Amino acid sequence: MSEAGGRTQAEPVGRGGTAIRVAMLGCGTVGGEVVRLLREQAVDLAARVGAPVELVGVAVRRPHRHPELGELLTTDASALVTRSDVDVVVEVIGGIEPVRTWLLEALKAGKSVVTANKALLAEDGAALAEAADSSGADLYYEASVAGAIPLLRPLRESLAGDRIKRVAGIVNGTTNFILSSMAASGASYADALDEATRLGYAEADPSADVDGYDAASKAAILASLAFHTRVTAADVHCEGIRAVSATDIAAARRLGCVIKLLAICERTGDPDSVSARVYPAMIPAAHPLAAVDGAFNAVFVEAEAAGQLMFYGQGAGGAPTASAVLGDLVAVARNLVVGGRGPRESTYASLPVRPMGSVPTRYHVSLDVADRAGVLATISGAFAKQGVSIAAVRQTSGDSAEPTVRSQARSAARLVVVTHVAPEAALAATVDELAGLDIVNGVESVLRVEELGRKGVAG
Ligand SMILES: NC(=O)c1ccc[n+]([C@@H]2O[C@H](COP(=O)([O-])OP(=O)(O)OC[C@H]3O[C@@H](n4cnc5c(N)ncnc54)[C@H](OP(=O)(O)O)[C@@H]3O)[C@@H](O)[C@H]2O)c1
Repeated sequence: MSEAGGRTQAEPVGRGGTAIRVAMLGCGTVGGEVVRLLREQAVDLAARVGAPVELVGVAVRRPHRHPELGELLTTDASALVTRSDVDVVVEVIGGIEPVRTWLLEALKAGKSVVTANKALLAEDGAALAEAADSSGADLYYEASVAGAIPLLRPLRESLAGDRIKRVAGIVNGTTNFILSSMAASGASYADALDEATRLGYAEADPSADVDGYDAASKAAILASLAFHTRVTAADVHCEGIRAVSATDIAAARRLGCVIKLLAICERTGDPDSVSARVYPAMIPAAHPLAAVDGAFNAVFVEAEAAGQLMFYGQGAGGAPTASAVLGDLVAVARNLVVGGRGPRESTYASLPVRPMGSVPTRYHVSLDVADRAGVLATISGAFAKQGVSIAAVRQTSGDSAEPTVRSQARSAARLVVVTHVAPEAALAATVDELAGLDIVNGVESVLRVEELGRKGVAG
């Protein structure tokens, strides 16, 4: 590949019709669609940007798989990102290394970067932002959260004059597909995961999705933008959906709720702090997020002046994600044409991240208990001891108890307790204590209940 057309310092990028030159790292599910759209929409993009947008190189691992890219191909990403004729680097490889090194090299060389890499941004976004600041380059990453849904720009720009209180949403399509299909058919988690894998919604190794790590990376990015504070993936409390059972889904339905894997980013007072967490939770069936089914994503934003906003759409897939990448590329290219820069990262608030133990939540606890007099009083006492107030209790026994194998054998009952809001640590201590009581055969499930600004969950 030649390095023809390298720029001199005097040559203004994009002005007077000179092209904005783009290097791509990766050409897989997302990258392939970016290349297609760049080619198919070349005329429109040039008109929107004010200069042609030209692809000058594509780095991949296995060039033989991309014959259509011909001379553009290279396996030397490091050399590509620092080429003197490259203005913008679009990164759609993923993962931490070696991508971090390449993007830092690019930014230090003054190349603007557009990336879809949530894992890298959530782990080391600060290093990328610092490199962009010191060279005056742009760093855009709309595609890293919720695919096609315009979300980061509204948080970073449209809501920049408001005070965001909460960002809560469904940001992982695989887990939403699994939970939706469990709810629709009564299937077990294992069967719903098998179906998701068969239909291509889950990877062969689904742990990044089902254990919540993917959503945790996105929560870190959302919390950082919403609260002007650096939040990393390590700051996010993360639980996945492996333990969600068909019984939990049925229990949620009885309560007028559905179970969703939520990423919740909140600004909480006393002291002023942020909380970022990912876990499966019951939400009221009437909440707009409850209607988000299958592989779709949706994010609910609550801001002081704007009130409640909802962003909904395709959260993954080649073309939807490429749409977000192209949007960023146009923004970066326009900045180059006018000689300006997009908004810098804003972390001035530097709020502390609240430890999970002090985050106020509600629990739905399902217990397998001995079916005898005085049990309810003992259970209530365990909650009271930790200062946790009970909102509702439901006990079933005998045939109507949907008994487990163990409860049939021991003349047991199922007791469901829904609490009022209490610190997570007090709720967790209560559950530990319940598990140690001899009248409790087992703690069947513990799920959080999130009302997300709405009333309506029993109790
Ligand atoms: N897929 C989605 O729906 C989606 C949605 C939102 C965000 N994202 C993010 O977008 C990024 C890309 O995802 P994807 O699904 O498009 O991935 P993908 O289909 O696996 O494609 C990865 C691309 O990176 C190339 N690559 C991998 N390692 C490389 C290396 N060491 N040097 C050079 N090239 C290398 C691969 O080259 P070969 O083609 O030669 O193998 C391939 O072209 C990730 O950060 C992902 O999190 C994806």
